[in-house]
Amino acid sequence: MQILDGKLAAIAIKEMLKNKISELKISGKKIPHLAAILIGNNPASETYVASKVKSCNEVGITSTLLRFDDSIPEQDLLHSIRELNDNDDIDGILVQLPLPKSISEEKVINTISSEKDVDGFHPINVGKMVLELPTFISATPYGIILLLQHYKIETTGRYVVVIGRSNIVGTPISILLSRNTAYGNSTVTLCHSRTKNLKEICLQADIVIAAIGKPKFVTADMVKEDAVVIDVGINRIKDETKKSGYALTGDVDFENVAPKCSYISPVPGGVGLMTIAALLMNTYNACKQKH
Ligand code: GUN
Repeated sequence: MQILDGKLAAIAIKEMLKNKISELKISGKKIPHLAAILIGNNPASETYVASKVKSCNEVGITSTLLRFDDSIPEQDLLHSIRELNDNDDIDGILVQLPLPKSISEEKVINTISSEKDVDGFHPINVGKMVLELPTFISATPYGIILLLQHYKIETTGRYVVVIGRSNIVGTPISILLSRNTAYGNSTVTLCHSRTKNLKEICLQADIVIAAIGKPKFVTADMVKEDAVVIDVGINRIKDETKKSGYALTGDVDFENVAPKCSYISPVPGGVGLMTIAALLMNTYNACKQKH
Protein backbone atom coordinates (compact mmCIF):
# COMPACT_ATOMS: atom_id res chain seq x y z
CA MET A 1 0.00 0.00 0.00
CA GLN A 2 1.31 3.40 -0.94
CA ILE A 3 0.14 6.70 0.56
CA LEU A 4 -0.90 9.37 -1.92
CA ASP A 5 0.98 12.15 -0.19
CA GLY A 6 -0.69 15.46 -1.01
CA LYS A 7 2.09 17.37 0.69
CA LEU A 8 4.81 15.91 -1.54
CA ALA A 9 2.72 16.25 -4.70
CA ALA A 10 1.81 19.86 -3.84
CA ILE A 11 5.47 20.70 -3.20
CA ALA A 12 6.39 19.33 -6.66
CA ILE A 13 3.69 21.45 -8.34
CA LYS A 14 4.66 24.55 -6.39
CA GLU A 15 8.30 24.03 -7.34
CA MET A 16 7.35 23.78 -11.01
CA LEU A 17 5.21 26.95 -10.77
CA LYS A 18 7.94 28.80 -8.90
CA ASN A 19 10.33 28.09 -11.78
CA LYS A 20 7.79 29.17 -14.39
CA ILE A 21 7.05 32.39 -12.52
CA SER A 22 10.72 33.24 -12.12
CA GLU A 23 11.06 32.77 -15.89
CA LEU A 24 8.21 35.28 -16.34
CA LYS A 25 10.06 37.70 -14.06
CA ILE A 26 13.33 37.28 -15.94
CA SER A 27 11.68 37.95 -19.28
CA GLY A 28 9.82 41.01 -17.91
CA LYS A 29 6.38 39.44 -18.36
CA LYS A 30 3.31 39.97 -16.19
CA ILE A 31 3.41 38.17 -12.84
CA PRO A 32 0.14 36.45 -11.87
CA HIS A 33 -1.92 38.35 -9.31
CA LEU A 34 -4.68 36.74 -7.22
CA ALA A 35 -7.32 38.76 -5.36
CA ALA A 36 -8.94 36.90 -2.47
CA ILE A 37 -12.03 38.20 -0.70
CA LEU A 38 -12.78 37.09 2.85
CA ILE A 39 -16.01 38.12 4.53
CA GLY A 40 -16.45 37.87 8.28
CA ASN A 41 -14.25 35.75 10.51
CA ASN A 42 -15.25 32.14 10.14
CA PRO A 43 -12.17 30.35 11.61
CA ALA A 44 -12.03 27.67 8.89
CA SER A 45 -12.26 30.30 6.13
CA GLU A 46 -9.56 32.37 7.85
CA THR A 47 -7.26 29.34 7.85
CA TYR A 48 -7.98 28.47 4.21
CA VAL A 49 -7.46 32.01 2.95
CA ALA A 50 -4.27 32.48 4.99
CA SER A 51 -2.89 29.31 3.48
CA LYS A 52 -3.86 30.37 -0.07
CA VAL A 53 -2.10 33.73 0.39
CA LYS A 54 0.98 32.04 1.90
CA SER A 55 1.16 29.57 -0.99
CA CYS A 56 0.94 32.41 -3.51
CA ASN A 57 3.92 34.05 -1.82
CA GLU A 58 5.88 30.81 -1.89
CA VAL A 59 5.64 30.49 -5.67
CA GLY A 60 5.92 34.19 -6.51
CA ILE A 61 2.26 34.91 -7.30
CA THR A 62 1.24 38.37 -6.10
CA SER A 63 -1.82 38.31 -3.85
CA THR A 64 -4.18 40.90 -2.46
CA LEU A 65 -6.52 40.04 0.39
CA LEU A 66 -9.67 42.11 0.71
CA ARG A 67 -11.47 41.67 4.02
CA PHE A 68 -15.03 42.75 4.67
CA ASP A 69 -17.24 42.69 7.71
CA ASP A 70 -20.11 40.19 7.89
CA SER A 71 -22.49 43.12 7.61
CA ILE A 72 -21.28 44.26 4.16
CA PRO A 73 -24.32 44.94 1.94
CA GLU A 74 -24.51 42.58 -1.02
CA GLN A 75 -24.40 45.48 -3.48
CA ASP A 76 -21.12 46.76 -2.01
CA LEU A 77 -19.54 43.33 -2.33
CA LEU A 78 -20.72 42.96 -5.93
CA HIS A 79 -19.32 46.46 -6.64
CA SER A 80 -15.89 45.43 -5.29
CA ILE A 81 -15.95 42.29 -7.45
CA ARG A 82 -16.75 44.38 -10.55
CA GLU A 83 -13.83 46.68 -9.73
CA LEU A 84 -11.54 43.65 -9.59
CA ASN A 85 -13.01 42.41 -12.90
CA ASP A 86 -12.07 45.74 -14.48
CA ASN A 87 -8.60 45.88 -12.93
CA ASP A 88 -6.13 44.63 -15.56
CA ASP A 89 -3.52 43.86 -12.95
CA ILE A 90 -5.75 41.23 -11.30
CA ASP A 91 -5.67 37.83 -13.05
CA GLY A 92 -7.69 35.71 -10.64
CA ILE A 93 -10.48 36.42 -8.16
CA LEU A 94 -11.78 34.18 -5.42
CA VAL A 95 -14.46 34.86 -2.85
CA GLN A 96 -14.07 32.49 0.05
CA LEU A 97 -17.24 30.51 0.80
CA PRO A 98 -19.46 30.15 2.78
CA LEU A 99 -20.92 33.65 2.67
CA PRO A 100 -23.08 35.34 5.32
CA LYS A 101 -26.77 34.47 4.90
CA SER A 102 -27.61 37.99 3.71
CA ILE A 103 -25.48 37.54 0.56
CA SER A 104 -26.44 35.41 -2.43
CA GLU A 105 -23.70 32.95 -3.34
CA GLU A 106 -25.18 32.64 -6.81
CA LYS A 107 -25.02 36.40 -7.45
CA VAL A 108 -21.44 36.57 -6.18
CA ILE A 109 -20.27 33.70 -8.39
CA ASN A 110 -22.09 35.09 -11.41
CA THR A 111 -20.53 38.52 -10.90
CA ILE A 112 -16.93 37.27 -11.02
CA SER A 113 -15.65 37.53 -14.59
CA SER A 114 -15.51 33.99 -15.97
CA GLU A 115 -12.00 34.80 -17.24
CA LYS A 116 -10.83 35.50 -13.68
CA ASP A 117 -12.87 32.77 -11.94
CA VAL A 118 -9.93 30.68 -10.70
CA ASP A 119 -12.31 28.74 -8.43
CA GLY A 120 -14.06 27.44 -11.57
CA PHE A 121 -17.50 27.99 -10.01
CA HIS A 122 -18.96 30.31 -12.68
CA PRO A 123 -21.69 28.57 -14.75
CA ILE A 124 -19.77 29.47 -17.94
CA ASN A 125 -16.72 27.60 -16.64
CA VAL A 126 -18.77 24.64 -15.42
CA GLY A 127 -20.36 24.50 -18.89
CA LYS A 128 -16.95 24.64 -20.57
CA MET A 129 -15.75 21.81 -18.32
CA VAL A 130 -18.73 19.68 -19.38
CA LEU A 131 -18.04 20.49 -23.06
CA GLU A 132 -14.35 19.68 -22.64
CA LEU A 133 -13.30 23.22 -23.54
CA PRO A 134 -10.26 24.85 -21.89
CA THR A 135 -11.39 26.34 -18.57
CA PHE A 136 -10.69 26.62 -14.87
CA ILE A 137 -11.45 23.34 -13.14
CA SER A 138 -12.40 23.89 -9.52
CA ALA A 139 -9.81 23.23 -6.86
CA THR A 140 -10.94 19.90 -5.42
CA PRO A 141 -11.57 17.93 -8.63
CA TYR A 142 -8.46 19.48 -10.18
CA GLY A 143 -6.49 18.60 -7.03
CA ILE A 144 -7.65 14.97 -7.28
CA ILE A 145 -6.52 14.81 -10.91
CA LEU A 146 -3.15 16.39 -10.10
CA LEU A 147 -2.69 13.86 -7.29
CA LEU A 148 -3.50 10.92 -9.60
CA GLN A 149 -1.15 12.34 -12.24
CA HIS A 150 1.66 12.90 -9.75
CA TYR A 151 1.54 9.22 -8.75
CA LYS A 152 1.09 8.15 -12.40
CA ILE A 153 -2.13 6.30 -11.57
CA GLU A 154 -3.71 5.11 -14.79
CA THR A 155 -7.36 6.09 -15.22
CA THR A 156 -7.95 4.87 -18.78
CA GLY A 157 -10.33 1.90 -18.88
CA ARG A 158 -10.60 1.72 -15.11
CA TYR A 159 -13.85 1.57 -13.19
CA VAL A 160 -14.26 4.57 -10.90
CA VAL A 161 -16.96 4.87 -8.25
CA VAL A 162 -17.56 8.37 -6.92
CA ILE A 163 -19.62 8.62 -3.73
CA GLY A 164 -21.33 11.99 -3.31
CA ARG A 165 -22.81 14.22 -6.02
CA SER A 166 -22.00 17.74 -4.79
CA ASN A 167 -21.60 20.54 -7.31
CA ILE A 168 -18.04 21.20 -6.25
CA VAL A 169 -16.63 17.66 -5.97
CA GLY A 170 -18.67 14.57 -6.88
CA THR A 171 -20.37 15.85 -10.01
CA PRO A 172 -17.34 17.54 -11.64
CA ILE A 173 -14.87 14.72 -10.84
CA SER A 174 -17.28 12.14 -12.28
CA ILE A 175 -17.56 14.17 -15.50
CA LEU A 176 -13.82 14.85 -15.77
CA LEU A 177 -12.78 11.25 -15.27
CA SER A 178 -15.22 10.01 -17.87
CA ARG A 179 -13.97 12.44 -20.57
CA ASN A 180 -11.67 11.52 -23.42
CA THR A 181 -8.61 13.18 -21.93
CA ALA A 182 -5.22 12.03 -20.73
CA TYR A 183 -6.52 11.91 -17.15
CA GLY A 184 -9.98 10.58 -18.04
CA ASN A 185 -11.25 7.66 -20.08
CA SER A 186 -12.56 5.92 -16.99
CA THR A 187 -15.94 4.25 -16.66
CA VAL A 188 -17.62 6.18 -13.88
CA THR A 189 -20.55 5.51 -11.57
CA LEU A 190 -21.74 8.43 -9.44
CA CYS A 191 -23.37 7.18 -6.23
CA HIS A 192 -25.41 9.24 -3.75
CA SER A 193 -27.82 8.99 -0.83
CA ARG A 194 -30.50 7.27 -2.94
CA THR A 195 -28.14 4.69 -4.46
CA LYS A 196 -29.15 1.10 -3.83
CA ASN A 197 -26.54 -1.61 -3.28
CA LEU A 198 -23.79 0.92 -2.64
CA LYS A 199 -21.51 -1.69 -1.09
CA GLU A 200 -21.81 -4.03 -4.12
CA ILE A 201 -21.09 -1.15 -6.52
CA CYS A 202 -18.08 0.03 -4.54
CA LEU A 203 -16.68 -3.48 -4.40
CA GLN A 204 -16.36 -3.41 -8.20
CA ALA A 205 -14.33 -0.20 -8.24
CA ASP A 206 -10.69 0.07 -9.27
CA ILE A 207 -10.76 3.63 -7.93
CA VAL A 208 -13.09 4.84 -5.16
CA ILE A 209 -13.53 8.58 -4.61
CA ALA A 210 -15.25 9.36 -1.31
CA ALA A 211 -16.85 12.80 -1.15
CA ILE A 212 -19.87 12.33 1.09
CA GLY A 213 -18.99 14.42 4.13
CA LYS A 214 -19.60 11.61 6.62
CA PRO A 215 -16.72 10.47 8.84
CA LYS A 216 -15.41 6.94 8.15
CA PHE A 217 -18.34 6.19 5.81
CA VAL A 218 -16.29 3.94 3.51
CA THR A 219 -15.44 0.76 5.38
CA ALA A 220 -13.09 -2.12 4.54
CA ASP A 221 -15.95 -4.39 3.39
CA MET A 222 -16.81 -1.88 0.63
CA VAL A 223 -13.38 -1.86 -1.02
CA LYS A 224 -11.80 -4.56 -3.18
CA GLU A 225 -8.19 -5.68 -2.79
CA ASP A 226 -5.68 -3.35 -4.47
CA ALA A 227 -8.20 -0.58 -5.09
CA VAL A 228 -7.09 3.06 -5.22
CA VAL A 229 -8.98 5.09 -2.59
CA ILE A 230 -9.19 8.87 -2.71
CA ASP A 231 -10.63 10.46 0.42
CA VAL A 232 -12.06 13.93 -0.09
CA GLY A 233 -13.82 14.24 3.27
CA ILE A 234 -12.77 16.77 5.87
CA ASN A 235 -14.85 16.07 8.97
CA ARG A 236 -14.23 17.58 12.38
CA ILE A 237 -14.90 15.06 15.12
CA LYS A 238 -14.61 15.60 18.85
CA ASP A 239 -11.28 14.48 20.25
CA GLU A 240 -10.46 15.49 23.79
CA THR A 241 -6.85 14.39 23.43
CA LYS A 242 -6.28 17.23 20.93
CA LYS A 243 -5.54 20.78 22.04
CA SER A 244 -8.19 22.14 19.69
CA GLY A 245 -10.75 19.66 21.05
CA TYR A 246 -11.32 18.09 17.66
CA ALA A 247 -9.57 15.90 15.11
CA LEU A 248 -9.88 15.88 11.33
CA THR A 249 -11.05 12.68 9.78
CA GLY A 250 -11.93 11.72 6.24
CA ASP A 251 -14.89 9.90 4.71
CA VAL A 252 -12.87 6.67 4.76
CA ASP A 253 -12.16 4.38 7.71
CA PHE A 254 -8.47 4.76 6.91
CA GLU A 255 -7.10 2.34 9.50
CA ASN A 256 -9.10 -0.62 8.21
CA VAL A 257 -9.32 0.30 4.52
CA ALA A 258 -5.65 1.19 3.94
CA PRO A 259 -4.26 -2.39 4.25
CA LYS A 260 -6.47 -3.48 1.31
CA CYS A 261 -5.46 -0.65 -1.03
CA SER A 262 -2.78 -0.25 -3.65
CA TYR A 263 -2.89 3.51 -3.02
CA ILE A 264 -4.84 5.62 -0.52
CA SER A 265 -4.94 9.34 0.23
CA PRO A 266 -4.92 10.25 3.93
CA VAL A 267 -6.85 12.99 5.75
CA PRO A 268 -5.25 15.29 6.57
CA GLY A 269 -2.32 15.30 4.14
CA GLY A 270 -4.05 14.16 0.96
CA VAL A 271 -6.45 15.91 -1.42
CA GLY A 272 -6.87 18.95 0.86
CA LEU A 273 -3.30 20.07 0.23
CA MET A 274 -3.73 19.58 -3.51
CA THR A 275 -6.60 22.04 -3.72
CA ILE A 276 -4.27 24.96 -3.13
CA ALA A 277 -1.84 23.68 -5.76
CA ALA A 278 -4.82 23.55 -8.15
CA LEU A 279 -5.78 27.14 -7.33
CA LEU A 280 -2.20 28.28 -8.00
CA MET A 281 -2.20 26.46 -11.35
CA ASN A 282 -5.47 28.17 -12.31
CA THR A 283 -4.11 31.58 -11.31
CA TYR A 284 -0.95 31.03 -13.34
CA ASN A 285 -3.02 29.93 -16.35
CA ALA A 286 -5.41 32.91 -15.97
CA CYS A 287 -2.43 35.23 -16.27
CA LYS A 288 -0.83 33.32 -19.16
CA GLN A 289 -4.06 33.38 -21.17
CA LYS A 290 -4.22 37.16 -21.01
CA HIS A 291 -0.59 38.21 -21.35
N1 GUN B 1 -14.75 27.17 0.67
C1 GUN B 1 -14.46 25.86 0.74
N2 GUN B 1 -13.81 25.45 -0.39
C2 GUN B 1 -13.70 26.55 -1.17
C3 GUN B 1 -13.11 26.77 -2.45
O1 GUN B 1 -12.58 25.88 -3.11
N3 GUN B 1 -13.18 28.04 -2.91
C4 GUN B 1 -13.78 29.04 -2.22
N4 GUN B 1 -13.81 30.25 -2.77
N5 GUN B 1 -14.33 28.86 -1.04
C5 GUN B 1 -14.28 27.62 -0.51
